[in-house]
Amino acid sequence: MCFTFLLLIRKSLDTHFGIAHTRWATHGEPSAVNCHPHRSDKNNEFVVIHNGIITNYKELRKYLISKGYEFESETDTEVIPKLIKYVYDNRENDYVSFSTLVELVIQQLEGAFALVFKSVHFPGEAVATRRGSPLLIGVRSKYELSTEQIPIQYNSNGKSPRASKNRVDSTVALHSVSDRKAVEFYFASDASAIIEHTNKVIYLQDDDIAAVAEGKLSLHRMSRCAGEDPVRAIQTLQMELQQIMKGNFKAFMQKEIFEQPESVFNTMRGRICFDTNTVVLGGLKDHLKEIRRCRRLILIGCGTSFHAGVATRQILEELTELPVMVELASDFLDRITPVFRDDVCFLISQSGETADTLMALRYCQGRGALTVGVTNTVGSSISRETDCGVHINAGPEIGVASTKAYTSQFVALTMFGLMMSEDRISLQKRRLEIINGLRMLPGLIKEVLTLDDKIRSIADELYQQRSLLVMGRGYNYATCLEGALKIKEITYMHSEGILAGELKHGPLALIDKHMPVIMIIMRDACYTKCHNALQQVTARQGRPIILCCQDDPEITRNAYKTIELPQTVDCLQGIISVIPLQLMSFHLAVLRGYDVDCPRNLAKSVTVE
Ligand code: G6P
Repeated sequence: MCFTFLLLIRKSLDTHFGIAHTRWATHGEPSAVNCHPHRSDKNNEFVVIHNGIITNYKELRKYLISKGYEFESETDTEVIPKLIKYVYDNRENDYVSFSTLVELVIQQLEGAFALVFKSVHFPGEAVATRRGSPLLIGVRSKYELSTEQIPIQYNSNGKSPRASKNRVDSTVALHSVSDRKAVEFYFASDASAIIEHTNKVIYLQDDDIAAVAEGKLSLHRMSRCAGEDPVRAIQTLQMELQQIMKGNFKAFMQKEIFEQPESVFNTMRGRICFDTNTVVLGGLKDHLKEIRRCRRLILIGCGTSFHAGVATRQILEELTELPVMVELASDFLDRITPVFRDDVCFLISQSGETADTLMALRYCQGRGALTVGVTNTVGSSISRETDCGVHINAGPEIGVASTKAYTSQFVALTMFGLMMSEDRISLQKRRLEIINGLRMLPGLIKEVLTLDDKIRSIADELYQQRSLLVMGRGYNYATCLEGALKIKEITYMHSEGILAGELKHGPLALIDKHMPVIMIIMRDACYTKCHNALQQVTARQGRPIILCCQDDPEITRNAYKTIELPQTVDCLQGIISVIPLQLMSFHLAVLRGYDVDCPRNLAKSVTVE
């Protein structure tokens, strides 16, 4: 996880603050010298923590070296404290405020950043800012807050900021009592890092500068653009601490797998009327006409969120009768994919902060397309910047390997298809079948979860293997990709999701009696074709473990082992069949002795390109 945080606590000291950062290495290996905070010089005149990437750091570094600065680390971040010291040492006026210095520094930076600064020249003060990387401020007060929003102070006429003592004085007292020890501020990348201290937060926007001094907070920007909100609201998060605690589970991921009966229900809650068979997604209803007229739908995401797009593509094609493209955000950008004004682009992201997805959003917006966010995080960059959207309401997801967000994204996208097809007479029977399927879903998920012991015993036989293939097709191709991703992410075993239709074009060469294969064979339009694949595997002495529907004697006869699942509508079956693979990856990781929630080299929210 990539949490930048600053903690300002008042104890016996009048003011006190500290900064720390858990870093996900982008430049420079993980080592003491590359750790944050980074400093301007041996006297620590300025120190900074940074989440993101500075893309023009090489030019800045060269310039600063030419001015006599010596660098200690290989990181991109280190140019920032050096640059602020350079600006400070070359200031025009004797007095310059800390936030003014930061404003000057960020004008020189390119890339993505959330930054928190501290300096011996400004004791007891902290300044934070962001561009592209998330940053929020938690506010905890002994007294009731006297305001619900903080006004932005604009630097006069957008000119280069001049020194002015007044700038620092025009701060906002958050309560009416003059008890300077009564308020604490927390800066963090994500609300879950601070929720145990406060549920009052201010989400900073790109280029906002927040300064905390003398127990007061002030927000600054260079200049005001037309239509820009001149205040930042103090929001109250609904997230409860217990919601993000593990309870009786060994890991957050395990808890989140078991939460799926409720999380998929919460995705549907208040949005499906089972009496009238109607689906209303409040965030989309005003845009429905425009979406119905579009040229095509483009579903964009990374990792698990991309798989949710793959999983729902077929049903969206069927229900919307529109061409649907599914894109990995990074590849979509690499290809400079043509996007048109009459395209509708879905940005799917659990965190709402994934850098590649966020950049794809801005790319689509730049080409005039309508953008729709599908996120699990209210207030996230993607949910704020898209034209409209759907919150999947799965609740906070802590485990790095995404589980309940996937099933909720799946349900949300399917509901979108149902909403689009409401007035298509030819599709009413199909819609009814799917709506009924959705109603039964929480109960069926509960049933699948009772298979946990059986799945653990299969994991017992597999955990020492080096590789595990997951094979299927049609609606369950996405299940294979997602199952294999879960296995890779947390067990470090090699795993591949294979489209059974491609078996003969390469993967068959991998099959022998030693290679473990999980096959997904459900009773749907691909059933016979999946059987053919099974024959090919058994003919090469493969010993497949088969995920199939309950009471399928033909399968059980040919399988080495089966996991029998309740059957639902074909297009929802992927929600049922992914759960045994989530559980399997969890048990394999535990048996192999790994930390399930914090897999090596991975982050929950990848806010760098
Ligand atoms: C990271 C996480 C994955 C996640 C992906 C996309 O790689 O480790 O679990 O699927 O980011 O995240 P998002 O928040 O955009 O869904």
